[in-house]
Amino acid sequence: MGKKIFSGVQPSGNLHLGNYIGAIKNFVELQNNKENSCVYCVVDLHAITVKQDPNILKNNIKETTAVFLASGIDPNKSIIFNQSEVSAHAEASWILSCVARMGWLNRMTQFKEKAGKDKEKASIGLYVYPILMAADILLYDATHVPVGEDQKQHLELSRDIAQKFNSDYSCPNFLKVPEPLIQKSFSRIMSLKDGKKKMSKSDPSDLSRINLTDNKDEIINKIKKAKTDNFSMPDKSNGLDKRPEVENLLGIYASLNNQSLENSIKEFSGNNFSDFKNKLAELVAEKISPISKEINKLLKETTLIDKILLEGSEKAQDIASKKVKEMKKIIGF
Ligand code: AMP
Ligand code: TRP
Repeated sequence: MGKKIFSGVQPSGNLHLGNYIGAIKNFVELQNNKENSCVYCVVDLHAITVKQDPNILKNNIKETTAVFLASGIDPNKSIIFNQSEVSAHAEASWILSCVARMGWLNRMTQFKEKAGKDKEKASIGLYVYPILMAADILLYDATHVPVGEDQKQHLELSRDIAQKFNSDYSCPNFLKVPEPLIQKSFSRIMSLKDGKKKMSKSDPSDLSRINLTDNKDEIINKIKKAKTDNFSMPDKSNGLDKRPEVENLLGIYASLNNQSLENSIKEFSGNNFSDFKNKLAELVAEKISPISKEINKLLKETTLIDKILLEGSEKAQDIASKKVKEMKKIIGF
């Protein structure tokens, strides 16, 4: 049976190779299985949990949509929309925040990381962010949610919220309990400068990530400058112990080539690093620079993006407003 897929990406700019390999590449593969129905959301309500400049936010919503389209998400096959256009998300989020428990939210590690030392100054939105994420997913009866490893805990919370709603209101199976879809390998792409840190849009060093808007020369330069170590290329996967940078680069190669890490290790064992880096740079440029060209093209004249978001939000509205209406009826409104 086909899957009902929902996933979201925040429009916070600088989407990178980690987002592509960990999430968006999967979105496209899931969409291309005709049995699935897919909804992909630019989660702009999530973005304002930290301060945003309105003009930059507006551009980032378009840019994230352009990344979806340029990566191969097709508005004729998937619903593409931005969250703030469908008011059911905020409405359902309130209802579910009365179901979720403080104790559950207090365990969320992403809040602890993002709020940092001064928790008192974090927005309430940042704290309840996973409840909005649950609303996103549950409104569409999603059965499967493709995300990177870092979102696993939020998915578990969505499952708990769905189950508690169904049991509190004696409506078994009304909210569908979603399964996370996390790739077994390559679900965490690391910084090019530090193999122990995730590749991240907020890293101050631009050399730490390949942005999906980087051109061919920028990509090649960044791979050449990526950190490695003084040992030779490994010939077995246990040769990668304590070599996170090399493991990450081989993982990027394997993932973009749709092959296993073991095969990449075999391919390069005995090679020197510069040969490997040349091949890797070539592959990343071959896969990413067409995407970056297409993004730039789409952003030059954004009427197409605006039209796709408008049409997508109408379709999403149709599904989500029905679900929230049923929720309200169950609650007794
Ligand atoms: P975000 O940009 O944080 O909204 O993330 C969008 C999607 O990309 C989520 O599914 C994340 O789990 C995924 N993601 C973000 N950074 C990485 C990374 N370094 N490696 C793999 N997946 C990532
Ligand atoms: N929290 C996710 C992230 O930061 C984005 C997100 C919001 C999401 N709503 C979602 C992902 C629903 C999957 C499903 O990456």
